[in-house]
Amino acid sequence: MKILILGNGGREYSIARAILNEKKGHELFFQPGNGATNTLGTNLDIKDYNQLAEFAKENAIELTIVGPEAPLVAGVVDVFKSHGLVVFGPSKQAAQLEGSKVYMKNFLAKYNIPTARYIETASIEDAFKFTNTLSTPIVVKADGLCGGKGVIIAMSHDEAKVAISEMLSGKSFGDAGKKVIIEEFLDGYELSMFAVCDGEDYILLPAAQDHKRLQDNDQGPNTGGMGAYAPTPLVDETLYQKVRERIIRPTLDGMQKEGAPFEGVLFIGVMVVNGEPITLEFNVRFGDPECEILMPLMTSSVSDMFYKAATNRLSEIEVAFSSQYAVGVVMASENYPYSNSKPAEIIVDEVHHEEIEKYTHISYAGVSMEDEKLYADGGRVLVCVGLGDTIKQARDRAYMRCGQVHFAGKKLRTDIAYQALA
Ligand code: AMP
Ligand code: GLY
Repeated sequence: MKILILGNGGREYSIARAILNEKKGHELFFQPGNGATNTLGTNLDIKDYNQLAEFAKENAIELTIVGPEAPLVAGVVDVFKSHGLVVFGPSKQAAQLEGSKVYMKNFLAKYNIPTARYIETASIEDAFKFTNTLSTPIVVKADGLCGGKGVIIAMSHDEAKVAISEMLSGKSFGDAGKKVIIEEFLDGYELSMFAVCDGEDYILLPAAQDHKRLQDNDQGPNTGGMGAYAPTPLVDETLYQKVRERIIRPTLDGMQKEGAPFEGVLFIGVMVVNGEPITLEFNVRFGDPECEILMPLMTSSVSDMFYKAATNRLSEIEVAFSSQYAVGVVMASENYPYSNSKPAEIIVDEVHHEEIEKYTHISYAGVSMEDEKLYADGGRVLVCVGLGDTIKQARDRAYMRCGQVHFAGKKLRTDIAYQALA
């Protein structure tokens, strides 16, 4: 099958890698891809969605998988469908579950899906009034997409009010902050849950945990995620069942009632508070780096899962997972997450160790290729993934692989999966 993948991150690389590992002769295209995806397929440079859809038709692309949120929120799925193409991802309207936190929170409230108590408002007076009713910490969120930076956890009422003023004045996030959500702080542990959906049915993948802060012990600024592992032992069957009944089922039913059946990946940011799952947020795509550790755990066909989901036939298949664990450690460039970094050549040692060869691999993200040399190009550069029969074994292997990757200014956390190993 010819498959087009939209995006340029480690997430898209890992999807491609899993599809090629099926060894069914799939041919891959990437828009735009990165400096390493062109070793897995063909990188394109067609930014206009209608032109891209034309390309897909002319080249008999049978399936398009959309990785990141931005093209989804911009409506790429609607464009592809209007051309009669098979595409995996939510419509523009359904993507509002991630594109607008106000839409998401109001949806959760309307369908009685558990979430933190909140108000949404564009009025500074109302915002301050609600803030005064909360105890600290107080969570302030910009409505629109802010690349993971639109959430402030304020430690005092004054700090919350400054954040609210800066958002509503457009100072901190421009139009994305013209409406804000103010909500109570939930104290618990956080999970990343992923349901692959076809509008009606869904498949729930093993739960993962991300590590959002830059430094060990969850210190430093928030990032897109510095590492992840799955499955996490912090979830048992009872919790999965609660998430299914209280969050996923009512979301799929609710989106149907809204006239926007949800197709694609429903990424549920769950906070578990006293054993109860509360929805922190929805994203409408795979997490990154969570995708990089879930893809290698799938033992059934990844391409078939995406294809069946995109053609509303998920009920026809069973998805199977390995009994192993996966741990992914992100290596980021020097100035991440603050600013760009100078390109730095990446040297990956030749692997002589059978264990590393067999149980680890690299998913490439922020890299470029020049004269057959790979360069770290800023942001999150790559993810070293280790597989093992225990979380500890998987993690040791991931770090063994990290030891073989060199570039100037490389940054990584040394404690990925610590919550599971505590
Ligand atoms: P979001 O972009 O909504 O996922 O928020 C980013 C991060 O902020 C989440 O992953 C949580 O770690 C944290 N967060 C968001 N909302 C809350 C909340 N109500 N209580 C506690 N932490 C939160
Ligand atoms: N790793 C979290 C995210 O992709 O948003």
